Amino acid sequence: MALKDILALVHPALVIVVVYPLLGIVLNRALQVRQRRLAIPSGTQSKIPPTVGADHVQLGRWLSGSVVGLALVGLAHPLFFKMQANQAWHQEPLRVSFVVAMFVATAAALFCLYRAREKTWRAVFALLTGMGIVVLGAQPEIFRRDDQWYASHYYYGVAAALLMIVSLATIQEIYQDRQHRWRRLHIVLNTVALLFFVGQALTGTRDLLEIPLSWQESHLYQCDFANQVCP
Ligand code: HEM
Ligand code: HEM
Repeated sequence: MALKDILALVHPALVIVVVYPLLGIVLNRALQVRQRRLAIPSGTQSKIPPTVGADHVQLGRWLSGSVVGLALVGLAHPLFFKMQANQAWHQEPLRVSFVVAMFVATAAALFCLYRAREKTWRAVFALLTGMGIVVLGAQPEIFRRDDQWYASHYYYGVAAALLMIVSLATIQEIYQDRQHRWRRLHIVLNTVALLFFVGQALTGTRDLLEIPLSWQESHLYQCDFANQVCP
């Protein structure tokens, strides 16, 4: 396999090794947090240890960072290799510099989001991180499958990453809200995120099946994908 093909496997391999196992533990702890919290008013002694909340949040923080980081890796591969093939550095040096700056700025905004405590700064860095992903995803090199958005790895991936950013930015609100509105919103948003993660597994494996190895590209891209015929 050529280097380009090997590097294409970095994103899916890391997602499988890091994100999905973490997601399993975060989900397990989430159910325990809820079970324990609902058991307390009824006076029953819950067998679930009081540390599950902290476990859920600590691993949740890792989950959000790895999803956003690996979405950036997923975007970097087609951006780099398609720009290289089109000699974009000579044609559009400004846009190439902008894209590189956006990768650095998005990673920096995510780092600051982890450190920010005050509400305004958390909102600012969450917005900047989210905007970075959307702007990078809007580049012409990214295959967004716009005509089939409901089965698009890009749209589900960006949506999942944005929901992880929201969770990361609203941890304090969940704890401080006595009426549990943020807690309920968190559950709704992350149930949707779970569906997106399932969607990512389906659309990602399909994309791996569809993307040809680099030495097959010149042949396979002559095919008419709509009518499913090749010359
Ligand atoms: C797919 C991922 C996730 C799901 C399904 C999920 C679901 C849940 C559920 C069901 C609860 C318990 C709510 C209750 O007490 O009724 C909870 C609590 C919480 N979650 Fe998540 N969550 C996810 C990811 C995250 C992430 C990524 C973060 C932060 C970065 C996070 C932060 C919190 C916090 C701060 C609480 C309150 C914990 C406590 O009361 O001790 N969650 N979550
Ligand atoms: C947490 C789950 C995941 C997220 C957030 C995510 C996100 C992304 C994003 C934003 C892109 C760039 C847009 C695109 O080309 O579609 C991408 C590309 C890609 N992803 Fe994922 N992904 C996830 C899981 C997976 C899985 C499980 C696989 C396969 C096993 C996979 C395979 C791919 C492939 C093959 C590409 C295209 C890369 C290229 O064109 O070189 N992804 N992903």
